[in-house]
Amino acid sequence: MSGLSTERTNVGVVGGGAWGTALAVHCASMGHQVLLWALEPEVVAGINGPARENTLYLPGHKCPEGLSASSSLQEVASSCNLLLIVVPTPFIEKTLAPVAAAFKPDCILVSCTKGILNDTLETPHEILLRVLPRTVHSQLAYLSGPSFASEVVQGLPTVVTIAAQEERVAGRVQALLSTPRFRCYRTTDVIGVELGGALKNVLAIACGISDGLNLGNNARAALITRGLAEITRLAVAKGANPLTMGGLAGMGDLVLTCTGDLSRNRTVGLRLGRGELLGAITASMHGAVAEGVLTSRSAYSLSRRLGVEVPIIEGIWRVIHEGEDALTVVQTVMSRELKPELDMSMLAAMAPSMAFV
Ligand SMILES: NC(=O)c1ccc[n+]([C@@H]2O[C@H](COP(=O)([O-])OP(=O)(O)OC[C@H]3O[C@@H](n4cnc5c(N)ncnc54)[C@H](O)[C@@H]3O)[C@@H](O)[C@H]2O)c1
Repeated sequence: MSGLSTERTNVGVVGGGAWGTALAVHCASMGHQVLLWALEPEVVAGINGPARENTLYLPGHKCPEGLSASSSLQEVASSCNLLLIVVPTPFIEKTLAPVAAAFKPDCILVSCTKGILNDTLETPHEILLRVLPRTVHSQLAYLSGPSFASEVVQGLPTVVTIAAQEERVAGRVQALLSTPRFRCYRTTDVIGVELGGALKNVLAIACGISDGLNLGNNARAALITRGLAEITRLAVAKGANPLTMGGLAGMGDLVLTCTGDLSRNRTVGLRLGRGELLGAITASMHGAVAEGVLTSRSAYSLSRRLGVEVPIIEGIWRVIHEGEDALTVVQTVMSRELKPELDMSMLAAMAPSMAFV
């Protein structure tokens, strides 16, 4: 017998990019009533029109019955019991601040974006705590994990994790979004889930650059493994559970974005590695966002603020924002002081978690 919930509700989605549309399609396919807000009038018209398609960000996929789009953020925010926030990190505050008081008192708000702001170094969780009223703080949750929009929208098996400070809230989102093709786990480690999702995008660029330079399979495997060590150090310094980084939002998403050619961040890296300039690459993406480009700056700043060594992330920051030659960065990273592989301070950080295993 399935343990899946049959409860259906009103779902709002803020953001009509590829991921917002894919999640809206998933929810409507489950039988939820879904209203999606999109910035672009052509996205709203495309979803509501006879073709029922978001031709701008997710072409080739028909939207099911039960999903409609609106240009009124107020209408979406005030009508739902579950709101998915899927605008890229730099637009969260500007988008949500005008409707901060519009939500129903028991509405659960789930951020599905992956990034860290450049100036304040805030994650989506920290932005939402600042922008939204206290009354909804305990109702905030975060969805992350290995999930390409184009695979979710095809109904291919996908497994993600839902984080919330209150396990009750994570469990409620888990119940409302899980199907036999979209399985949700839950956790209370909000920091770990958010940082895993944001930081892996920088490592996806690193792997893309390495592959673009034809540095080989050994190099890619090393980047994923030592990259995981870096993002774990950074996340733990900010209060995450190190075990989270071995889970879906850490290792899971890292493997997906560092090896999957559907990853925009990996593609940006591949093109950089082949010698294209960043400006030309982003200009050719027609509004689609590779959050890792901005996150590379935030991640490096965060490492300096927290006093954590992140040679790969620092190298990507140097290539992207300082114009340093990628092969010189590889040489620098490979010539660092020799050291033990295991970081014993991670074991100490793990000790409290191990007590519950
Ligand atoms: N695409 C995926 O497969 C995927 C999967 C998981 C998570 N994510 C994350 O989801 C988030 C959204 O990514 P996406 O792929 O849906 O985006 P996208 O690149 O497909 O679309 C860009 C989005 O940014 C919005 N936007 C652009 N300018 C804006 C502005 N000035 N104000 C408000 N919104 C603006 C657009 O309306 C659109 O919703 C990102 O954080 C991404 O990392 C994406």
